[in-house]
Amino acid sequence: MRAPYRIGLLGLGHVGGALARRLIEDGERVASAAGRPIVLDSIAVARPEGRTAPASLVPADALVKRPHLDAIVELIGGIDPALTYICSALQSGLEVITANKQLIAARGPALAQLGPLRFEASVASAIPIVETLAETLAADRINSLIGILNGTTNSILDAMAAGADYADALADAQRCGLAEADPSADVDAHDPAAKLAILGMLGFRRRIEPSQIERVGIRGLDQRQLVAARERGFVVKLIAAASMTGPGIEADVRPRLIPDDAPLARVAGAMNAISVDAAYAGTLVLQGPGAGPDAAASAVLADLIRAARGTPASAGALLASLADQPVATITPLGLQTPFPAVP
Ligand SMILES: NC(=O)c1ccc[n+]([C@@H]2O[C@H](COP(=O)([O-])OP(=O)(O)OC[C@H]3O[C@@H](n4cnc5c(N)ncnc54)[C@H](OP(=O)(O)O)[C@@H]3O)[C@@H](O)[C@H]2O)c1
Repeated sequence: MRAPYRIGLLGLGHVGGALARRLIEDGERVASAAGRPIVLDSIAVARPEGRTAPASLVPADALVKRPHLDAIVELIGGIDPALTYICSALQSGLEVITANKQLIAARGPALAQLGPLRFEASVASAIPIVETLAETLAADRINSLIGILNGTTNSILDAMAAGADYADALADAQRCGLAEADPSADVDAHDPAAKLAILGMLGFRRRIEPSQIERVGIRGLDQRQLVAARERGFVVKLIAAASMTGPGIEADVRPRLIPDDAPLARVAGAMNAISVDAAYAGTLVLQGPGAGPDAAASAVLADLIRAARGTPASAGALLASLADQPVATITPLGLQTPFPAVP
């Protein structure tokens, strides 16, 4: 077996903790998949005082420069200081694996120019959509992408369709840990817009600026709209959709009316689903848990195994190839979409 692959972990929260557990409790299976042991060498957290951890705790700025490491896994989230740490690691010659959708959507192309960057967990957790677009469908032509990319709002909409009002449904989601104390990233659709930007860049090979994607969240929805829709045979879902229209791209995230016999209507709770329309492969539908520490850690681990095997970081290379492109012009979806917007 080859020499161990040594990693430094930034963040030991929900996903970082789940990843550390897999690396330790499932080490043999991981080593067998990677062709070498993957060793958790060191960890950085925001508040190390009095903390026990499954590897030595070191300051983040020192961790990303440790010369004996092969890779850094960034599971802090947000733009700063994750961006600084990732730049520093890539410039030190380390591979970087991240689940950070916000950072990849906003800075992915420039970051990926600095070195090997992997980000399967950044979109739809365990669903292997990043690898599918960057690798499996590399020679295809993607016409459109449509899906449910935010499990929190999907759960809130389910509760509203069952009779709860928005405030109660949100409070419930917050109580069971599905929604953050500040729910804006989910309910105002920043999160699915960032994920759609990543998928659009990978699928259409065009540079997309997430702030150009029109967003309508679920905050303004009235529970009676959902009940009325259900009586007419529709389910309201927060849909992220993008399509190539000749020279341009149409994309938006907004609540839409889905006929209740359509596959997307049956995507319940925290599940995610993505339908990819490819010119040659046809229509592929991927569905699975869109959030949750174990599901996200599973996607991070898949990237780690590819890195330890020496498999090229295809999705990162694809983003890097877009860095010098002008930003694509994005317009909202036209009227010919299969699912009408909630008025
Ligand atoms: N949770 C999910 O289901 C899920 C799914 C897919 C993707 N993701 C993504 O995964 C990433 C991590 O999410 P999470 O839910 O695991 O977050 P989390 O539970 O809030 O954990 C964040 C971790 O980062 C540490 N941290 C924060 N600032 C730091 C700093 N300046 N230096 C070093 N460490 C720092 C925190 O330290 P302390 O422990 O000391 O506070 C904590 O351990 C995010 O990008 C998120 O979007 C999450």
